[in-house]
Amino acid sequence: MFTDTATSTAGTVLENFIVRDEDLPEFKDLEFEDINQLHLDHPGANDTEYRTRRDYIASLAKRFRETGEITDVDYTDEEQGIWRHVAGRLEELHEQHASPFYLQAKRDLGITTERIPQLTEMNRRLKELTGFRLAPIEGLVETRGFLSLLSYRTMLSTQYIRHHSRPDYTPEPDIVHEAIGHIPMFTNPSFADYSQFVGLGAKIATDEQLEELGRLYWFTVEFGLVEHEGDVKAYGAGLLSSYGELEHAFSDEVDRRPFNLEEVINHDYTYSDMQPVLYVIPSYAELKEVTKRYIESFQK
Ligand SMILES: [Fe+2]
Repeated sequence: MFTDTATSTAGTVLENFIVRDEDLPEFKDLEFEDINQLHLDHPGANDTEYRTRRDYIASLAKRFRETGEITDVDYTDEEQGIWRHVAGRLEELHEQHASPFYLQAKRDLGITTERIPQLTEMNRRLKELTGFRLAPIEGLVETRGFLSLLSYRTMLSTQYIRHHSRPDYTPEPDIVHEAIGHIPMFTNPSFADYSQFVGLGAKIATDEQLEELGRLYWFTVEFGLVEHEGDVKAYGAGLLSSYGELEHAFSDEVDRRPFNLEEVINHDYTYSDMQPVLYVIPSYAELKEVTKRYIESFQK
């Protein structure tokens, strides 16, 4: 069971975006119902050396919850090589399809194709820009646990990297998905506030509302598209961290619809398939406003 003893309701906190250090939960008190281990269908499942390395990096995240201190990972040459390969290939597609905000954000955070960025260095910049934070985690956790942390303007982030045999693919989040997909968008004030609203919602949502929030998160944070000067661009992490998904998103096979909150929260999706329908938001500010009204309705 995910436990978080802080008491707050959406109505009283929705206007308050700043989370001071002293307002943060004690990470050592957070207990997750489920933290994903490496599954048998993972490309590295039969590679003992890979498993040992992944377990070691995961142990640094566990240590963070005991000490509150993030340990930088001393990435190996092979790990840096995987990053250079994937980040380099994605860079070309980003120039074509990524939202201009995202492209600038990557530069602002110092995320390059050359080396794997550390959570600590990205945290320093995020703090200055939007007060967002990254906290290491050793694997995927349950929806309520993960989303609730966003209410503290905090995203749980893995630090290990995918297996070298499939640089184009990972069945679980890894540092490529986090740092290339998710983290740059937290430098956008509206997107950061939006994420916090989703987190506040997750803390008070019924199980049914939590499922709705999960779908909203999926079609925005993971697979979102945004209008830009009459064009459509990508800002979702699942798109920006996968060349297959990104190319597919702009192909004729995808129905790119205007964002409609009611439709999105009721739209079932299949996790493992390429997405046949994606939603285009008019702006991050608009996404924030609609979501704010939606979360406020949880209390009524
Ligand atoms: Fe993700």
